[in-house]
Amino acid sequence: MEFSMLTTMRRSVRKYLSPAPKSGIEAVLRKAQMAPSWKNMQTSRYYVVESPELLDEFRVNALPEGNAKKSENAALIVSTFVKDEVGFIDGKPANDAGNCWGAYDLGLQGAYLVLAASNEGYDTLIMGIRNEEFIREALAIPENEQIMAVIAIGKRGEEPAMRPRKELSEIAKFF
Ligand SMILES: Cc1cc2nc3c(=O)[nH]c(=O)nc-3n(C[C@H](O)[C@H](O)[C@H](O)COP(=O)(O)O)c2cc1C
Repeated sequence: MEFSMLTTMRRSVRKYLSPAPKSGIEAVLRKAQMAPSWKNMQTSRYYVVESPELLDEFRVNALPEGNAKKSENAALIVSTFVKDEVGFIDGKPANDAGNCWGAYDLGLQGAYLVLAASNEGYDTLIMGIRNEEFIREALAIPENEQIMAVIAIGKRGEEPAMRPRKELSEIAKFF
């Protein structure tokens, strides 16, 4: 799909018919990897839960009821970043943003990821409300990684309307 169409047609989808297959998720993650990162350090990490046997149990334990319901029938991607690397020089924060830079890089990949998913014919739901403790243990995520979002990915089962955006003048100042 043409880029400006992708950016306007993408939606957060909260009802799925089927999960994206492994091959589709791999294609989407390869595109996410094309995002820029601090010194090209690429500290973003992904843990994909796609096996049908694991998905249902993982979903209900990793997510609060509302998000578990919204992501039924979708595969789940847990996104993390390795802490204390991006934004650090000789082990010290390069500036006041510290580990926010790791989250910044992961967010950039996240933007590529959701657009790439749309381009491949899948939809996504980024979920920030999730059970960190359960996810870390279930997927053996090391302590030096910050768990961020759980991202549902699959074929849409609803046609959501576009949610309103603020006026540009509310979010940007030109000098
Ligand atoms: C960091 C982040 C966390 C989010 N967490 C949730 C969530 O826990 N549950 C949910 O239903 N939607 C969640 N969303 C989706 C937003 O509500 C959605 O992106 C926003 O309303 C704009 O709608 P759109 O994505 O369809 O344009 C999250 C989005 C982002 C970027």
